[in-house]
Amino acid sequence: MVRYVVSKMTMGDIPRVVEIEKLAYPTSQWPASAYRHEIQDNAWAHYIVLRDAEIAERAAQVAASEPQPRRNFPFGFLAPARMSAHDPAQQALIGYAGLWLTVDEAHITTIATHPNARRRGLGELLLVSLFDIGYQIGARWMTLEVRVTNEPAKALYHKYGFKIVSTRPRYYTDNNEDAYIMWTDEITTPDCRRTFNEHKDALYARLRQSAQVAS
Ligand SMILES: CC(C)(COP(=O)(O)OP(=O)(O)OC[C@H]1O[C@@H](n2cnc3c(N)ncnc32)[C@H](O)[C@@H]1OP(=O)(O)O)[C@@H](O)C(=O)NCCC(=O)NCCS
Repeated sequence: MVRYVVSKMTMGDIPRVVEIEKLAYPTSQWPASAYRHEIQDNAWAHYIVLRDAEIAERAAQVAASEPQPRRNFPFGFLAPARMSAHDPAQQALIGYAGLWLTVDEAHITTIATHPNARRRGLGELLLVSLFDIGYQIGARWMTLEVRVTNEPAKALYHKYGFKIVSTRPRYYTDNNEDAYIMWTDEITTPDCRRTFNEHKDALYARLRQSAQVAS
């Protein structure tokens, strides 16, 4: 069975994305409307989600074993809607990421994994998927902003060749924290492609030890 699956974010994914967003960015989040706008109206935006098929299967088994709510005619339609936490497809969504293409620069706008799913290579899988999209849509550079204190994210970006090129003072309005602006070298050069492919191969080999990956 393929365990980790990356796919395009859809409108139906947004409630769960927002749920993870609250955990991943506790002090400032994008509202659901921002994601709806990105998906519906922004032709330059590309958003992806990551699902764990094992969680989906377990959640489906639990849901199947639970008694169905009684639908008392004629008021059955008033029965409470299923909680999103009980929806197997929603529970299985454990990460998401996105970018905008501006001319030939892919600007990473967000990347997050559920706190329970961290340090398993899944943030890296999302970043690799964003690079793959960047290559497909003709990006020559990848860029992003990161909080100066965000050590996990900075380590991930360094691993994939991002370098700090400048600081944007008090960029984050919730706590006035500075942002580092990070850029890759030109990703289409043979050197960059080779390094990227080496990292990607190593990641896929790591993930294959516990599971399979598909996108
Ligand atoms: C940043 C984030 C996406 C990383 O996700 P993750 O699933 O834990 O990352 P991975 O397990 O794929 O780790 C990939 C690499 O990131 C780095 N890394 C991740 N977590 C780290 C940590 N706690 N400390 C140091 N390095 C870390 C390492 O270089 C790691 O490579 P390694 O496995 O070879 O050591 C995750 O911490 C997150 O969602 N944070 C909150 C949202 C956020 O800050 N996003 C970035 C906004 S700019």
